[in-house]
Amino acid sequence: MTLRARYTGLIDRYRDRLPVHDDTRIICLGEGNTPLVRLNNIPRLLGREVDMYIKYEGLNPTGSFKDRGMTMAVTKAVEEGSQAIICASTGNTSASAAAYAARAGIKAFVLIPEGKIAMGKLAQAMIHGSTVIQIQGNFDDGMELVKQVAETAPVTIVNSINPYRLQGQKTAAFEILEELGGAPDYHCLPVGNAGNISAHWMGYKEYHEHGVVNDLPVMVGYQASGAAPFLRGEMVDNPETVATAIRIGHPQSWDKAWAVQKESSGWFDEFSDQEILAAQKMLTEKEGIFCEPASAISVAGAMRDIQSGKIPAGAKVVCTLTGHGLKDPDTAIGQCTAGVQTVQASLGAVEDAIMSAIGGS
Ligand code: F0G
Repeated sequence: MTLRARYTGLIDRYRDRLPVHDDTRIICLGEGNTPLVRLNNIPRLLGREVDMYIKYEGLNPTGSFKDRGMTMAVTKAVEEGSQAIICASTGNTSASAAAYAARAGIKAFVLIPEGKIAMGKLAQAMIHGSTVIQIQGNFDDGMELVKQVAETAPVTIVNSINPYRLQGQKTAAFEILEELGGAPDYHCLPVGNAGNISAHWMGYKEYHEHGVVNDLPVMVGYQASGAAPFLRGEMVDNPETVATAIRIGHPQSWDKAWAVQKESSGWFDEFSDQEILAAQKMLTEKEGIFCEPASAISVAGAMRDIQSGKIPAGAKVVCTLTGHGLKDPDTAIGQCTAGVQTVQASLGAVEDAIMSAIGGS
């Protein structure tokens, strides 16, 4: 028996495919290498023969896929001598930036929309010691302010307009290709700024161009109806959705994402808040997988497209679950109508509670 080498993070693993040098100081937290889990129960409920997987990106160190891009962006910022990073965020980017800045020993400034950020993410940004600036506006306002302030202040932007972010994020596609031994037929993702869908396509194409794989997936992007610029064909002011992560009306990777759609023969679609929450609950109850609402839209989309036949029988489908459900316990608890029962601390009371639950099921 041989022992496997320790996994240290995605930069080490994909060094030859990423813009780093031998002497680059890598800022990492063991990100990447996330599970690709085959769904059992949902395909059965759909009554269709499909091979459905989720890529569980919520299991990255700070609870979202953002860590893949952040390890690269912060590594390069430090290499270039930056002492501070800045981002606008709907939550996950701020938590990730705060953690990697702490790891690097530099400052992080995060701009978040007032009252629209999940508690778990605010807690992370604060506890890692970043400067949290809450703006009386939405993500799109914050993004514009970040771009303006970075023109004069000594700060490096670590939003996905920083090209190193997409470089790091493309590694998720490498992992999927390696694990499946080829490309899935369809890859479904939530779309906000559209950095992630663009990064995945970059990764898929890179392995394809280097002859590592022979095929490419069809890329499918889903948006919340209240924040769906790709469905409207134009930017949306005042985006609204329960899926706060993708409450974005002015996507930063607009052109890139349209290119992905065309090149991969993919499509965009939209879902109501109710449908998004129903998919989140279904994943937790039927598969034991807890993701945040924005992430669940990829499964909501895949399910609808499988049922309608747009994704044909026999297809291999990967859905990216971008962030962990623990980000937003309030929304999760709000969905649980059964609630919690309180009983006396006695054997009889506990037995009664169990027996009535068994009887009622
Ligand atoms: N899913 C989650 C959980 C996200 O946090 C985000 C983006 C997306 C999907 C959309 O990804 O923007 O690459 O299309 N969150 C950003 C943030 C905006 O600030 O954390 P995208």
